[in-house]
Amino acid sequence: MPRKFFVGGNFKMNPRSPEENERLINFFNGSVLDPHTEVVIAPPSLFLIPTLENIRKDVKIAAQNCYFQSDGAYTGEISATQLYNSGIEYVILGHSERRRLFHETSEFVAQKTRAALDCDLNVILCVGETLEEREAGRAQNVVESQLQAIVAITKDPEHWSHIVVAYEPVWAIGTGKIATSAQVQETHVGIRRYLATAVSHDVAESTRIIYGGSVNANNCKGLASQPDVDGFLVGGASLKPEFVDIVNVRV
Ligand code: G3P
Repeated sequence: MPRKFFVGGNFKMNPRSPEENERLINFFNGSVLDPHTEVVIAPPSLFLIPTLENIRKDVKIAAQNCYFQSDGAYTGEISATQLYNSGIEYVILGHSERRRLFHETSEFVAQKTRAALDCDLNVILCVGETLEEREAGRAQNVVESQLQAIVAITKDPEHWSHIVVAYEPVWAIGTGKIATSAQVQETHVGIRRYLATAVSHDVAESTRIIYGGSVNANNCKGLASQPDVDGFLVGGASLKPEFVDIVNVRV
């Protein structure tokens, strides 16, 4: 079965005010979006509910993180349960900025992933290597190690139907230096091969593997035509009108 193209917009710690967020929502609501592409936007936690209440219904909402406990004394955290009960359908987990800045290990990301899946949330699972790891020829090893932590908590095909894998080479995030189509296709093929071995052929073939890292309207077409690129996770460009062009890249 063909994999539905997926474009996510990771707003990160933007926009800066409810008014700016409202302007972004109004822009999306007034745009023509490819109906054959699944579109998910991830505002900061503060704007999740107002965005959910005002965004067009064909655009889904993701949180940018969650905690693995369902309730309790965890100051500053938001649980998967709270997200699900608030109508949020997706959560981004394992983003390299959280791995780097907040020291999230793959095992911790796996705990969160399991909690999110147990709450029927869909997970955008981020993996990716640093420039040093890429230059040392260890990119595939690193990505497989990050995925292995998830495989260790579930091989259930039903769970994997709720996971979108986002390959985001750390050295391409926010740098303007996008990975080449050959690098991305090679890594996505490697991810699919790993999933076929570690989980199952069917899961490997049905799991969407998307690319993130300096994607914009000018450089997305070549990547979108790669057979194992099932979409994008967009950062900076998701806050700009060109995000619509990325969503419509296959139109
Ligand atoms: O999660 C997507 C993000 O890490 C990519 O950021 O700004 O390079 O598109 P950017």
